[in-house]
Amino acid sequence: MDLIKKKRDLLSLTDLAPKEIWDIFALAKRLKKELKNKGGNKPLLKGKSLALIFEKQSLRTRISFEIGMFQLGGYTVYLDPRDTGIGVRESEADIAKVLSGMADIIAARTYSHQTIVNIAKNSTIPVINALSDLEHPCQALTDLFTIWSCKAGSRSAGEMRLLKGLTIAYVGDGENNVAHSLCLGAAMMGMTFRSASPKGFWMNKNIAKTALSEVEGQAEILETENPEEAVKGADVVYTDTWISMGDEQEKEKRLTIFKPYQVNQKLMKLAKKDAIFMHDLPAYRGNEVAADVIDGPQSVVFQQAENRLHVQKALLVKLPTLPK
Ligand code: CP
Ligand code: NVA
Repeated sequence: MDLIKKKRDLLSLTDLAPKEIWDIFALAKRLKKELKNKGGNKPLLKGKSLALIFEKQSLRTRISFEIGMFQLGGYTVYLDPRDTGIGVRESEADIAKVLSGMADIIAARTYSHQTIVNIAKNSTIPVINALSDLEHPCQALTDLFTIWSCKAGSRSAGEMRLLKGLTIAYVGDGENNVAHSLCLGAAMMGMTFRSASPKGFWMNKNIAKTALSEVEGQAEILETENPEEAVKGADVVYTDTWISMGDEQEKEKRLTIFKPYQVNQKLMKLAKKDAIFMHDLPAYRGNEVAADVIDGPQSVVFQQAENRLHVQKALLVKLPTLPK
């Protein structure tokens, strides 16, 4: 019997079906409400443990997983690069096999996406991508949930249609983990995704191709060099740092190339009047976003950050129960 295949992972957003994403959102909404109204949640993960293995720094991802497990009655162990030395002190396969014997779920943050793939291949327990150079699916799940929460009030139809037809304009570094997962998620939800980036910083071709094949309904995927074209009439304007973890040696070059791609008031004015501004954080005011946008009335960035907690709690509960 092949035990390794008998579990579900979240390495890419496309590892979940749209219906499963909606189930996660429904639970996230319920857990958020329960936490706010009753001051706590039922111990849905009592006796369960999560191993976090991180090669890179983190605030939101680490704390939302750790506090999320605590609030659901579970336990987390955090291992930083000095502890595990993924592929250096010990092979990915051996780490995966050892953790499979002790923990119930693994969440890994790595430089190379292949590292997470190798860990998942060698684990018998679910593996969650907590950010790789290619994707950040936990962030995209939260982003879609946040857009749903922000836009649901102003729309009337059934649940699926609350995201369908909306347009996300992503401005900045398109060859970026956050942009990739968001693009895939937008396509799966029937949302149009427009990415404005300098040539040479467009999305990974395989991701763009996969997104096109996932497109639901009339949604479009557009890549352009022109931020105005992307933002015109958009419902959501999104940006991320121009210098992702691992890109530090290109800092000076990137600051120059991306300068015309700053999200500022002038650009925001081209979006819909009720457009929201989103950023996964950490943000660099004066670079990818002007301070008066991220700290202004259209910004939902702290609501977005908080939602990481609620959505990942729902993910931790649901992922091990999904059909194999
Ligand atoms: N948005 C996000 O993943 O933040 P951290 O890198 O702080 O976890
Ligand atoms: N693109 C950024 C996201 C940080 C959450 C990075 O990889 O550093």
